[in-house]
Amino acid sequence: MFSLNDKVAIVTGASSGIGRAAAKLFAAQGAKVVVTARRQAELDALVDEIASEGGEAAALAGDVRDAKHNEALVDLAENRFGGLDVAFNNVGTVGRMAPIEDLERAEWDEVMETNLASAFLAAKHQVPAMRRRGGGSLIFTSSFVGYQTAGMPGMAAYAAAKAGLVGLTKAMAADLGTQGIRVNALLPGGTDTGMATFETDEQRAFVEGLHALKRIARPEEIAQAALYLASDASSFTTGTALLADGGVSINKI
Ligand SMILES: NC(=O)c1ccc[n+]([C@@H]2O[C@H](COP(=O)([O-])OP(=O)(O)OC[C@H]3O[C@@H](n4cnc5c(N)ncnc54)[C@H](OP(=O)(O)O)[C@@H]3O)[C@@H](O)[C@H]2O)c1
Repeated sequence: MFSLNDKVAIVTGASSGIGRAAAKLFAAQGAKVVVTARRQAELDALVDEIASEGGEAAALAGDVRDAKHNEALVDLAENRFGGLDVAFNNVGTVGRMAPIEDLERAEWDEVMETNLASAFLAAKHQVPAMRRRGGGSLIFTSSFVGYQTAGMPGMAAYAAAKAGLVGLTKAMAADLGTQGIRVNALLPGGTDTGMATFETDEQRAFVEGLHALKRIARPEEIAQAALYLASDASSFTTGTALLADGGVSINKI
């Protein structure tokens, strides 16, 4: 049910964290995976690691804010592996944390471009490829930040961009349902990656304590949720915002 045999997937933000874990899991479940991020060396190491575990992957380094790069990723999936079935559009950046009046326009733009405009550019090129294949699954990595009760200080641009992804997900799911293309947002809670850095043990303990499970996730745990959305196990799931957040959204401390 969770198998990705005979499927081709693009995973963005694959040089570290959640994307790296998802690329490995997707490949282990049989998918041929196209991986991207800006750091070439990390992507090359990932491709080698996947190959050493019996999987197949191809890397193309680039910036997901660039329309041509998104187009090239789809071309690579089609030319090297024969099509595109799954896209895990997972790139993200928090940007500098600051109250709204201290945020510069360029900082706002960078966060919106990286988290939200990149999703539009990715989907724009991925949807026709999935249509050629007769269907597919698109996944956008949103966040608990900006969703439901989880307002967080100093994260205005990030919260706006991640909430925007949920709106994009719903609109696209409504548009594409008749074409067999499912579209879902994945909302991780705090996850132990380079994005979640803590200056002190106290800071880490505070963030862990915000979660009902009193810990943050391993990237592999978020990858499992992405696998569910990617695979036929979620064949009747579209337009949803799937929380895999350790209960941070519902917890009252
Ligand atoms: N960690 C958390 O607590 C948490 C919680 C909720 C949601 N999320 C979301 O989860 C997703 C993955 O984050 P993560 O936690 O795994 O952090 P991460 O390890 O920092 O991963 C971010 C990835 O995005 C890539 N990236 C950033 N900007 C890019 C750009 N302009 N073009 C291409 N690639 C770019 C980075 O690679 P390069 O630097 O090599 O380009 C990296 O592979 C993000 O969308 C994040 O917002 C994370």
